[in-house]
Amino acid sequence: MGTDQIQSELSESILTLRINRPDKKNALNLAMYQALADALTEADSDEAVRVVLICGGDDCFTSGNDLADFISAPQVGPDSPGMQFLAAISEARKPLVAAVNGLAVGIGVTMLLHCDLVYAGTNATFQMPFVNLGLCPEAGSTLLLPRIMGHQRAAELLLLGEVFSAEKAYNLGIITELCQDSDVLTTARSRSLQLAAQPAAAVRLAKNLLKRNYASQLHETIAEEGMQFVARLKSPEAAEALQAFIQHRKPDFSKFT
Ligand code: COA
Repeated sequence: MGTDQIQSELSESILTLRINRPDKKNALNLAMYQALADALTEADSDEAVRVVLICGGDDCFTSGNDLADFISAPQVGPDSPGMQFLAAISEARKPLVAAVNGLAVGIGVTMLLHCDLVYAGTNATFQMPFVNLGLCPEAGSTLLLPRIMGHQRAAELLLLGEVFSAEKAYNLGIITELCQDSDVLTTARSRSLQLAAQPAAAVRLAKNLLKRNYASQLHETIAEEGMQFVARLKSPEAAEALQAFIQHRKPDFSKFT
């Protein structure tokens, strides 16, 4: 692992990847994306791994992409750590389980759309503020969200970009099961153990069959969103939103048409 902000532990055939940057609410920087991408890719070909479990801290899953990096180190192209992470998580052959406590923002939500089982605490909160930041949705979310919940409900989440509750996330279909906050990791771990005990080749085949009908569309969507996202990073709307975050003020989009 290139950074201790992603901690990895293999036990009982489960590779746990813990996002661990509490001082920045687990915001994902380039090194963290790269570490996650590498770990997921290696896990896919490592016979010792049967399930990958992704988690964060007790009060924060992740606050999403590091906003300072959007300004100082924007990710461009398919080889960028963020795009490598998206390729690895969206094309993973082995089952992915997520345990979500506290905040899940931006890619902290959209990465869940690529996980097979998602456990969240009742006090977890979710937000996809891409449009609020003058950017556009990513990670294949413009394909996957309407597929899960229909256009109108997906549009509400993406266009208004409001915070929503774990209960709403569950009702919309992006969470497998809601748990007491203190039980999230234990539940996710016990389900992971259950999955690891299943016949591995049959699990991989079932996962592949579940996704194969939209796999190529997903690949194209991630690429198109990624290209638009990079272009949006240079937009005056994004510049205003990112400056506003740094300056701890509300953005003013009224002058942009
Ligand atoms: N990127 C970079 N730094 C981030 C961050 C992010 N995505 N999210 C939080 N941080 C940093 C804050 O700047 C702050 O750093 P500082 O202590 O050096 O000032 C620290 O983490 C704590 O965050 P703070 O805003 O004080 O915590 P909070 O509990 O009041 O709010 C959030 C938490 C996540 C709601 C708020 O930080 C936020 O909106 N962050 C941006 C989320 C976002 O837009 N993500 C990208 C989506 S594409």
